[in-house]
Amino acid sequence: AADRRSRLLEINKVAAKYFYMLLRSPQGSHALQYFEERKLSKETMQHFGLGYSNKYSDDLYQYLKKQGYEDELLKDSGLVTIDERRGGHDKFWNRAMFPIMDANNRVIGFGGRVMGEGEPKYLNSPETMIFDKSRNLYGLNFARSSRRPHILLCEGYMDVIALHQAGFDNAVASLGTSFTSGHANLLKRYTKEVYLTFDSDGAGVKAALRAIPILKEAGLTAKVINMRPYKDPDEFIKALGAEEYQKRIDEAENSFMFEVRMLERDYDLADPESKTKFFYAVARKILNFEEELERENYIEAVAAKYQIGFEQLRSVVRSEGTRGG
Ligand code: GTP
Ligand code: MN
Ligand code: MN
Ligand code: MN
Ligand code: MN
Repeated sequence: AADRRSRLLEINKVAAKYFYMLLRSPQGSHALQYFEERKLSKETMQHFGLGYSNKYSDDLYQYLKKQGYEDELLKDSGLVTIDERRGGHDKFWNRAMFPIMDANNRVIGFGGRVMGEGEPKYLNSPETMIFDKSRNLYGLNFARSSRRPHILLCEGYMDVIALHQAGFDNAVASLGTSFTSGHANLLKRYTKEVYLTFDSDGAGVKAALRAIPILKEAGLTAKVINMRPYKDPDEFIKALGAEEYQKRIDEAENSFMFEVRMLERDYDLADPESKTKFFYAVARKILNFEEELERENYIEAVAAKYQIGFEQLRSVVRSEGTRGG
């Protein structure tokens, strides 16, 4: 099995080099143009090993066959599917290619983006013996040696790359899947504090609300960066630059206060009945903090923000506490 793993790593490396070469060949000129239009420098493209998968649907397959790799192994790599009648068929063709590295800089899979419009926008390597999506994060190979004390967790490959290019070498992203406790435990080896910098749309908010308890459960502190009015870190940086992004980091919201602000959307604070329910819901959330001092501090923060007396909110928390037992 160890031998099979190293052979799969080898194939991924050979494929990454091939895609890398194609991007810099005449056949990849439109892909190079695509990355340039997205404001990536040559250095950035090189740093992330970006590439291009050719427009012929068996181009990589033919190339790897010529190198002497057997079908069985190619199939297991997830880079190729082999059909009895039609023969080998590449997973990725005519896509802008993002090699995915593990924390030790080994290529374990790929993301491939359609250039321009088209579905699916991104294709990712399937999970294989060497590619476990819930235990790897894009960009971690660089972020692990960043001098910044926290980690920036974003949604997409392009977000990670744009952030690194702007000097935020502590950015990582999950691999087209949702954030898991496996990811949180991985991050815990390198940091204590994670700043969420997800997309500002509904999906991004939902993803943040799911990631926060997972991070807390792992013993990490979470903060939430506001990307508005831009869609994601890539677009934010392109529009406003690194200095403004740094300001957003400095202003990042406490994750509990973010959760409360999102909870508030379900209530109408102009209506006394709804407002009352909201404070009961917040009180129950505050009870999740085990430390008395922590509870007091959050009662204070919520009271100040939502115009309710500190003592008033504290007594709601107490009553909810005795009710729940
Ligand atoms: P750009 O449009 O290139 O800037 O990508 P994005 O990262 O902003 O895209 P989006 O916010 O839609 O998605 C975030 C991440 O989810 C991507 O980087 C991918 O990892 C993943 N993703 C997006 N679309 C797809 C898809 O169609 N299929 C799969 N499997 N993953 C996707
Ligand atoms: Mn999408
Ligand atoms: Mn998105
Ligand atoms: Mn984007
Ligand atoms: Mn996005």
